[in-house]
Amino acid sequence: MSSNTSSSSYNNLDPAKLPSHVAIIMDGNGRWARKRLLNRIQGHEKGSQTVRTIVRACRNIGIPYLTLYAFSTENWQRPKSEVIALMTLLKKFLDSEQKEMLDNNIRLYAIGQIERLPENVRQALHKVMELTKKNDGMTLNLALSYGGRSEILKMVKEIAIKVKDGGMDPDSITPEIISEHLYTSQMPDPDLLIRTSGEMRISNFLLWQIAYSEIYITDTLWPDFGKNEFLRILKDYQQRERRFGKVGTQLKEMPKVI
Ligand code: IPE
Ligand code: IPE
Ligand code: MG
Repeated sequence: MSSNTSSSSYNNLDPAKLPSHVAIIMDGNGRWARKRLLNRIQGHEKGSQTVRTIVRACRNIGIPYLTLYAFSTENWQRPKSEVIALMTLLKKFLDSEQKEMLDNNIRLYAIGQIERLPENVRQALHKVMELTKKNDGMTLNLALSYGGRSEILKMVKEIAIKVKDGGMDPDSITPEIISEHLYTSQMPDPDLLIRTSGEMRISNFLLWQIAYSEIYITDTLWPDFGKNEFLRILKDYQQRERRFGKVGTQLKEMPKVI
């Protein structure tokens, strides 16, 4: 991590009220490029620099889980040249960030239909995941070929098989059991969901897990997003009252989301 990491700008945050898990829909690379008369790929390249910045910021602030929506199941339908460029960029990112993740105790994890990724990307991904699996400073969780509906479908099929062949009692299926069958079984649900570039939609991201996430949508395009805005959003998050369906005076009790 670079030298001026614990800079004073973090001091405004209440360490007791940091989100455990931040999830980000990184949107707007194409519009960023178009505004500058560049091609979309150049927007994605610039966007991958923002990824580096935000990963560092999260690590320095002390947020345990960061999930980044990098490629959706629907994104396979983009022009082939763009899909290839995105996969190439992903491979480059994995190669170039391996050292940073090892040096900074960051564990890499991935959710989504990893088997659909090109072989060289999968290899690079598995390599960095393996090398960093014992790191416990922070988990960087990349959503790759990820779709919330296909994740739910996978979960339903797995549970259906347990009911049919394994003698599982349907009455024993609880929200916890459902969570255990999702890609995110090893992590808490996101406390904060950020979307850049202003679209007011979820685009098939973490449909089950965001039941009670706080949502922040910024008009900033992902390549223009940076540490200062991220800190402002965290500050905003810390000022919200998360009621989980209760009334304000009850809030000392732990939430129950069913
Ligand atoms: C986000 O930027 C990156 C991916 C979805 C892979 P976009 O490529 O969606 O950018 P816009 O929405 O066209 O501006
Ligand atoms: C969502 O962005 C997916 C990612 C950020 C990877 P999109 O640009 O694909 O979403 P839509 O098409 O605007 O909903
Ligand atoms: Mg988009």
